[in-house]
Amino acid sequence: QIKRMTALDIRSRKAAEPIVSLTAYTAPMAALADRHCDFLLVGDSLGMVVHGLDSTVPVTLEMMILHGQAVMRGSRRALIVVDMPFGSYEESPEQAFRNAARIMQETGCGAVKLEGGQRMARTIAFLVERGIPVMAHVGLTPQAVNVLGGFKAQGRNRAEWPAIIADAVAVTEAGAFAVVLEAVAEPLAAEITARIAIPTIGIGASAACDGQVLVLDDMLGLTGRVPKFVKLFGNLAEGVDKAVADYAAEVRARRFPGPEQVYAVKEG
Ligand code: KIV
Ligand code: NA
Repeated sequence: QIKRMTALDIRSRKAAEPIVSLTAYTAPMAALADRHCDFLLVGDSLGMVVHGLDSTVPVTLEMMILHGQAVMRGSRRALIVVDMPFGSYEESPEQAFRNAARIMQETGCGAVKLEGGQRMARTIAFLVERGIPVMAHVGLTPQAVNVLGGFKAQGRNRAEWPAIIADAVAVTEAGAFAVVLEAVAEPLAAEITARIAIPTIGIGASAACDGQVLVLDDMLGLTGRVPKFVKLFGNLAEGVDKAVADYAAEVRARRFPGPEQVYAVKEG
């Protein structure tokens, strides 16, 4: 029986050894990533990555719970953090608590994540005071794509800095145990990381952060999406394509199934 990482374990890694994280949406991929990661994020990016949606906006609480359950079953060691989907927490702290409690009770995960800085600080405090560890997420917040007008890097203009720094400070003061910085210019990510007492988890926010997260399917070359901040650590699409092509050729040539893959009749 291996003890799982907790939100407090992650919190205590500030300015220590870098925190390693990837997204996971299914039990088998969670089992593989669990061997090397400190926490696994059941990101609402699953809407785009595995369900073919154009944004994360249509993702539902039911989808997050179903994938959260699968990732919990597949993993043993990593802290599991489940994203709260658009529409499940913005209305009020009470709404957020009700839905975060459902996520925790129905999946057994150790923390939830939600998007927003100053505007969500009161909600983050409300959840933490009632026993729900919260990871915050500032900088580029994809659930707001329809008001942001696209997926754009944040803080490339110094005039944007004060608001983004204020967001990171607000979620820290509200009691978040860590904060994701998404698509944030390198010197701003460094400034925020130096200023706040909780770990910053970067995605497109430079090695100045206290940890990193990537969408697993992106870095495996499975999605064909390669934003600037993604490095291809594998090319699984090529491997899958070759395996499927070989299978199709063998079926067409009646070479698969071969003698090893068929059942003989028991005589006598
Ligand atoms: O949904 C997601 O995968 C995320 C990460 C990109 C941080 O929120
Ligand atoms: Na997300």
